[in-house]
Amino acid sequence: MRKLWRLMNNPRLQQLDDYPFVRLQTLLQDLAPANDLPIILASVGEPRLPLPSFVAPILAQHMAGFSKYPPTGGILPLRQAIADWLQQRYSLPAINPETQVLTANGTREALFGIAHAVVDPDAQIKPWVLMPNPMYQIYQGAAITAGARPFAVPCMANNGFAPDLDAIPESVWNNTALFYVCSPSNPTGWVADAGYYTRLLALADRYDFTLVSDECYSEIYMDTSPVGLLAVAHALGRKDYHRCLVMNSLSKRSALPGIRSGFIAGDAVLIAAFLRLRSYSGAATPLPLQHVACHAWQDETHVQQHLHSYQQSVQTFVQTYGCNITTPSGSFFIWLAVKNGENFARKAWVEQGIRLLPGAYLSVLGVDDINPGEGYVRIALVDGVDQARELAQRLRKIKE
Ligand SMILES: Cc1ncc(COP(=O)(O)O)c(C=O)c1O
Repeated sequence: MRKLWRLMNNPRLQQLDDYPFVRLQTLLQDLAPANDLPIILASVGEPRLPLPSFVAPILAQHMAGFSKYPPTGGILPLRQAIADWLQQRYSLPAINPETQVLTANGTREALFGIAHAVVDPDAQIKPWVLMPNPMYQIYQGAAITAGARPFAVPCMANNGFAPDLDAIPESVWNNTALFYVCSPSNPTGWVADAGYYTRLLALADRYDFTLVSDECYSEIYMDTSPVGLLAVAHALGRKDYHRCLVMNSLSKRSALPGIRSGFIAGDAVLIAAFLRLRSYSGAATPLPLQHVACHAWQDETHVQQHLHSYQQSVQTFVQTYGCNITTPSGSFFIWLAVKNGENFARKAWVEQGIRLLPGAYLSVLGVDDINPGEGYVRIALVDGVDQARELAQRLRKIKE
């Protein structure tokens, strides 16, 4: 595969690692799963809860929309529904759906695109894009392809897995274009508090960079609903959300990853830049799906049902597994400390028929030559409570 890439003309593509699931496929390809047990796929963060009941009728009602091109920024009723949701969820004043909200095909596309909107690819000294380590790998791919240098901010257990802002040298801060923060975090389950966002905002002002907050797990938490970047910005008197963008989607909260519907909201200047980019690069979510999305942002009943299932799954896993495990504050991932992530993932597959992700596939060698994902595996609890219990019972049997 790497050889093939060398034939391509863009050297930035050669800097990208294989995507984590490709690496997992390679790791397990010659190994047969335990043949006496049903396979459990716990490697991908794809919620597999029942389809919300409103999806089919709304889709049927708007079928004719498949014959039309959807507008790039999203239809106004959807942008309004998102603005209303943000307002209610975070106790914000009215958000302007036309200037402060855009829709996207899920957050993945938006997270990738935004680096291309805010990084100057012709800068004499390549700017830095900062991201948590371990991370959702799109941040790194976005930074590299946009012409920036990625800086992986360590998230360690002794720090509650918060991205360690003190580990970033002054020389990096001085040339930072963009900072990705992810709360609740995939994969560690860390949740940012208002103080953390406040510190980030002060740094953004001091060093003149854009803050992108990936909040796609915002509705999945153990105790209290997480605070968001816009809420903190507003509480600090930042009425125009200057430098701030948040991204969220229906993939996790509504368990609708296949609908490919998300949003980007915040600073109108950044939104305008992003819309300009998307008017060339982005195809909008199909119209019938935008109508379903519109309903999904206005309905919290199904979200509460999903939350209950995620919370029960995490609690059940933690209780059943028993030892050496931290309950995540948010998300549906267990970030399990093991001796060697790849060995554990191999054993989980061969001995227990479980597919899970070695932590190092979500992290890079970073500050102090440490790879913070080594010594972990990520387990996605996306199939409900019974499966979570079964996962814990089987994984307990693995002897490293
Ligand atoms: C941290 C994080 N951000 C973004 C995404 C992208 O999700 P989507 O594009 O479905 O909104 C994911 C998906 O797993 C994720 O884990």
